[in-house]
Amino acid sequence: MQKTSRIAFGAAGIGSSGSPNRSERASSESRSCLLWRSWTPVGQILVTTEARQQFFLTTLTAALIGLLVSSLRMAFQRSDSALRLAETAVRARDEMVAVISHELKNPIAALQTGTTVIQRLIPRVPENERVLKLVEKLPLSIQRMSLLVSDLLDITRLEARVLKLNPADCGLLRIAQEVAGSFASAAQDKSVDLRIAEFPSETTRAFCDPTRTAQILENLLNNAIKFTDAGGSVRVSARKEDDHIEISVADTGRGIPKDYLPHVFDRFWQAKETAYKGTGLGLAIAKGLVEAQGGTIKVKSEEGQGSSFLFTLPSKAAK
Ligand SMILES: Nc1ncnc2c1ncn2[C@@H]1O[C@H](COP(=O)(O)OP(=O)(O)O)[C@@H](O)[C@H]1O
Ligand SMILES: [Mg+2]
Repeated sequence: MQKTSRIAFGAAGIGSSGSPNRSERASSESRSCLLWRSWTPVGQILVTTEARQQFFLTTLTAALIGLLVSSLRMAFQRSDSALRLAETAVRARDEMVAVISHELKNPIAALQTGTTVIQRLIPRVPENERVLKLVEKLPLSIQRMSLLVSDLLDITRLEARVLKLNPADCGLLRIAQEVAGSFASAAQDKSVDLRIAEFPSETTRAFCDPTRTAQILENLLNNAIKFTDAGGSVRVSARKEDDHIEISVADTGRGIPKDYLPHVFDRFWQAKETAYKGTGLGLAIAKGLVEAQGGTIKVKSEEGQGSSFLFTLPSKAAK
């Protein structure tokens, strides 16, 4: 007699049932077993056996497998609801960040105005010197706070896909020149050679939001100069590729270790070696702004050799 046994799960929601074929049916016997978990029937298994003496063993095995399957199913259900709970918590956190950031805008503006007025009103006499020195430090802190708040607002709006863009036919080269110009003194202070390199005539215009495109370039140039030591260089260039333009910001700075590359566009991510220099939002925002305009962004980098950030923008409005 054949010693092998056949197990089929016939319970609803547990698995598909397999029924024996005609020749098997002649010598086999099927029995249905209920599966229990915590005194509750959770399913039913159809056990088909051809060796009657093995029925007990087969039933036990089937029951154990069934128990395993139902436990797995419950574990999946539990992790699914945990995931949904986590997603709700993340959404609530993002909404809170957006509300707080929005509410902080007015007091920050009031601080900015107040500081300017105080600086103007305090007479420049020796006995006021200490107070004036303290007040002089305020604008930089207020500016940092203001930048952080607008970055937080941008990232939450980008992730919620509610950031408003105003795309139009723009002078891409002019935007790049203006942004590079605004970084000229920072680059000079660090002895970094910052230049607009190749920008062929077919790349000078693009269909994009000019303010947000400038913001992308600002974030990339800010990093390029920040992570490049004296004597290094930063180049901004563009090339046409099919129906889009690829803009590149390349530096000869410290580079990014290979292991870190998959994380650079994550929000709040910073290499631990440079974590003190910023908030970790610049690249996440740049990525969000590029993608919201229908482009892509990528990084190429070699540790100790430099980094290139390349992003694309459509050359014309989509038809
Ligand atoms: N050009 C670059 N060269 C080297 N490392 C970079 C460069 N750009 C970005 N990084 C790394 O990626 C991290 C994230 O950048 P970013 O999102 O702009 O945040 P932040 O500049 O505030 O640190 C940086 O902290 C740095 O570790
Ligand atoms: Mg940055």
